[in-house]
Formats: sequence, structure tokens, C-alpha cells
Amino acid sequence: MNPGKSCMRDTVYEVVLSSETDSNGWRKAARKACASGIAPGQLVWRVPGQAEALNLIPYASLPEVALERTMRINKALLKEIDTALLHSDPNRFDLAYRLIWRSQAEPKIHQNPADPDVKKLYQLTKNIRRDIHKMHAFVRFRKIGENDGREQFVAWFEPEHHITAAVAPFFRNRFAGMDWLILTPECSIGWDGKNLSYGPGGNKSDVPGEDSIEDDWRSYYANIFNPARVKVQAMKSEMPMKYWRNLPEASLIPGLLKQAETKTARMIDQARDPQTEFPISAAPRSPGRVLPASIADLYHHLEQRADAPSEDYSAKFIRGEGPSHAELLFVGEQPGDQEDLKDRVFVGPAGQMLDRALADANIPRQQAFLTNAVKRFKYIRRGKRRIHQTPSSAEIEYYRWWVEQERRLVNPKLTVALGGSAAQSLLGKKITLSQYRGKIWDQGDNERLLITVHPSYLLRIPDQVGRDIEYQKFVRDLRLAKRACEESNSKTV
Ligand code: URA
Repeated sequence: MNPGKSCMRDTVYEVVLSSETDSNGWRKAARKACASGIAPGQLVWRVPGQAEALNLIPYASLPEVALERTMRINKALLKEIDTALLHSDPNRFDLAYRLIWRSQAEPKIHQNPADPDVKKLYQLTKNIRRDIHKMHAFVRFRKIGENDGREQFVAWFEPEHHITAAVAPFFRNRFAGMDWLILTPECSIGWDGKNLSYGPGGNKSDVPGEDSIEDDWRSYYANIFNPARVKVQAMKSEMPMKYWRNLPEASLIPGLLKQAETKTARMIDQARDPQTEFPISAAPRSPGRVLPASIADLYHHLEQRADAPSEDYSAKFIRGEGPSHAELLFVGEQPGDQEDLKDRVFVGPAGQMLDRALADANIPRQQAFLTNAVKRFKYIRRGKRRIHQTPSSAEIEYYRWWVEQERRLVNPKLTVALGGSAAQSLLGKKITLSQYRGKIWDQGDNERLLITVHPSYLLRIPDQVGRDIEYQKFVRDLRLAKRACEESNSKTV
């Protein structure tokens, strides 16, 4: 590879840039060096303040060349290089030059992510974009006074890379209406309503402590803080702990997290209108048949029917299971793929989640009766997989009479609706789960109902913290169900 005229092969050249962010200086020198045929290994880049290497043979300066002979560089590559040069990695100038040099023979080199130099380049630019995003998000201004009717603010920030000047236009556009100065250890940027200025860096102590705006910030943050949405891992990766110390709201976070669970429970209670009337169950359309005398009789009738509501359903009917006079009756939505294959309710992933929660609530599964609002598996086929489909209102309605018969025959102390489809089946109408969840509803005639989420809902929560919180709430609902049964036992004794 020898893009330009060959220079003396064993001479080592040195370029001294004016600062860590002297990308213009780097560009000029890189063009010159490349045009002169100086290979990457022959070039040393230095910035002021960086220790000079101890070398016996002094470095040479770049030869003067006419720059009209400069080479072609792909624009996209140059753009990535400009971004990478903001990195604090001391080898970035070498890497950038190597890429420019190599691109003379391989103009599309930047399109090969497997190339180690290209891979490194993209790693640096990714770090830079992330650092810029953090600075956009976590700079917090403190008011220091007013001048000519304009409010004046300062902020302290410690970016990881040399990005401060690069973010100045963002802050000018965002905070055009006030005077501000952002101080970092390396440099400062300021805005006076007309011009952006760039100056030397400073210390954290140069920026005053708290101001009244921060109190507003804190109370705003405490108010919008939604514990039901707390995702600690996401918070930490979005807002790395090192930035927390500069944020006025950060001091609140540990306390707010501690309160999260109680606050969540309170939010659920508040969401539930205390005046909310229990929706009176609409009677299911009765197929006008003789009432079955037992669960076995009921399932026998059901099995005889070619009753799949549509062709999206499995031909298999899956019966409920448990003691025929269980105290607790759980109604799910419909059998899933595993249930359909194994001919049993709640044996797939949602069933395992339910088993775990039942165990944590001290409810032996074999003492409860488990069934579903819809008795067959509704799915669409994707290759070899059968993907669950939510039953329609009409399909839930289709089976309602049968669910009512199960409830009449088992005659439980309490029925637990697992999820929206089960609640719809038991009430005859769609409801907002959060409004009715976690409370014992008396439907009269000894019919009591508790509505909670379906265990598959827990499986769909992507982050572990959210899943843990929701799981605890689910177990709390199941414990309430157990307590309600025990209370009604003690009343009857
Ligand atoms: N989901 C349900 O609602 N019921 C089952 O039996 C299995 C999964």
C-alpha cells in the first residue's frame, strides 16, 4: 500500500496537534502525510501535555506537499472518523490515519464491520454517541443571577470524551432564552443570547451548590415518579451512577425506590374508584338444556359437542381439574399449546408460574379447581409453532353457560378470575382489570369473586425488577383469596 509518493521508509514523522479536539489539524496533517506516502507505522501523533516518547533519532516534520494531489476519502468514513476523534482513546489518531491510508486501496473499507480497524472505529463512535446523549440528558443548570433581564445559569458536567464543544449547538437551541455556561474539567461553553463561546475548563467547586430551581425539580421528579414503572437496571444503564451525584433529583431516588411497592399498592387502590359498583353479572345465554348433575356429566356433554367456536381452535376439549367441591375455583383464559398437547389445564409456562405463586401463597394446587373461560386452544400456525390467539368476546360468550355450570357444581367459597378473558366470562362484560383487581367482590347468593392478572402477563414483563414487583402483587392477591376462604370457613363453623 503506498498511496502517495514514497517517503524515506525508515524516517518517523511526528505531528503535534494543537489540542485533543484539533480535528482540523489532524485532517490537514493526514492529507499531507498520505499524499507524501508516509505509512501509518511511520507517523506519531501527539497533543500538548502528552509526554514525548524517548527516542534516539529525532522525529521528522511532515514534508511540505502540494495538497492538490490529495487523495479521495469516502464521506461516510470521514464522518465516522470525525466522531471517533472526539474519543479519549489516545490511539484514535493512529487508527483514523490507518483507515484513511487503507481506504485509498479499499474505498469501501468502512462497510466491512469484520475488519478490526473498522470494528474499533464503530466502537469508538458508539461510545461518543452515548456520551453525547448522556450530556444532553443530564446537564442540570443552577441559577446564579440575572443580567439585563436575562436569567443566568451555570452547570457542571464531566463527560467521558472530548465532546463538550460538539454539544454546544444542542444547548444553544434548547436554552436560547437564557444565559448559560457549562463547565467541564477540560473546557467550558457559554451562550449569551447571541454567541456561543468556548473557554477553559474548571472545577466542580466553581459551580454554586443548590438553587431554588432544584427544589422545583425535585418535587416535580417525586411527583412524576411512577413506581409501577420502576426499572432499576434500565435507570442505571440510562443514567449511570456517576452522573447521579450532579443531579438534584438523584438524592430522592433511593428513598423513592424503597417506597415504590407501597406506593404502587396505593396507586392501585386509588385507581379503583371506591364508589365503583360491582358489575352485575349478565346471565349467559342458556342453550336450554337440562342442567348437568355433576362435573363429569358436564364434561361428558361438552365433549359430545362439535363445539369449537371457529376453525382457529384445536379440536381437543380440555377439561378443568381439581376436587369436585373445591373451596377455590380458578378460571383462566383458555388452554395453551402445552395444555392442548398434554390434555391438562395449566401445565405450560403460565401454569408453572401459577404453581409457583400458589406455593408462595400457601395454596396447594391439588386442593383448588382449575378451569378456563374457553375450553379449547385458539391459535394460528407459524411454521411448526402454534401461536396463541386471544379469544373474541363472542367466543368467550359461547362458553359462558358452561363456566357457570362448573361454578354451580363446584360451588366454591371463592372464584378467582385470572386475567381479562376470565373476568369477562364471569361477569358477562369486558372490564378494566386494574379497577377491579385485588378485592373480594360479593356477588350475592354466596358467590364471591376475586379478579387478578393472568400468570402469562407476568411472563411478558421484559425486565426482572418489573416482573418481581408484579409477581409479588399477584401472590398478594392469591393470599387474599386464601384468607377470604379461611374467613368464610370460620364464619360457617
Ligand atoms: N392459560 C390459561 O388460561 N389456561 C391454561 O390452562 C393454560 C394457560
